[in-house]
Amino acid sequence: PTPANWRAADDYLAEMLVGHDPALDAALTAQRAAGMPAIEVAPVSGKLLHLLVRISRARRVLEIGTLGGYSTIWMARAVGDGGRVVTIEAEPGNAAVARGSIDAAGIGDRVEIRVGRAGDVLPTLDGGEPFDLVFVDADKESNTLYLDWAARLGHPGTIVVLDNIGRDGEIVDGASTDTKVIGTRAALEMLGRDPRFDATALQTVGVKGWDGFAVAVVV
Ligand code: DHB
Ligand code: MG
Repeated sequence: PTPANWRAADDYLAEMLVGHDPALDAALTAQRAAGMPAIEVAPVSGKLLHLLVRISRARRVLEIGTLGGYSTIWMARAVGDGGRVVTIEAEPGNAAVARGSIDAAGIGDRVEIRVGRAGDVLPTLDGGEPFDLVFVDADKESNTLYLDWAARLGHPGTIVVLDNIGRDGEIVDGASTDTKVIGTRAALEMLGRDPRFDATALQTVGVKGWDGFAVAVVV
């Protein structure tokens, strides 16, 4: 349950700093109409991803978990004309909706959607140009696999953002049997211990309740 004031304050911040955008609104409408869960990043978080790409001057972005393409559009707008977003989506139906929304947003030429399980698609990206920013937002059970690939497909300085590290505070429960909690705890442990990363995490409250994200740099 999301306290009403969390939602109201998040809506206020989005109104002040993010505003409304026809293509992003249409992407959410299409995603809802297709029956996808409303688990896309919050508007203020989409804008944060956009700003991280701009601040770091990232040209090549990898997204694991496209859903309806909402965060994809935010990041694709930030990579610039010669930039590229490769986004991986396991559900072909989701990918089709995302394709339509991304094309309608006018940045379709910058976005490559790879349909398949990320565990199968990621090895096919090996040997290509490295990615400057990786956003991990797919099945939480595979988070450590995705972080490993983020390090392998990145370079020193690559930014890694991992979504959903708060989970209503369940993240502290080492005895949890929730596979999403287990997968996220394993990812946080990896970000702390694996010498390939230097990381921190921030909890968030807002329209999606109590959650958060980790931010890391590939060392
Ligand atoms: C879930 C997944 C997400 O990526 C998210 O942002 C929120 C919830 C989920 O699977 O429960
Ligand atoms: Mg998420």
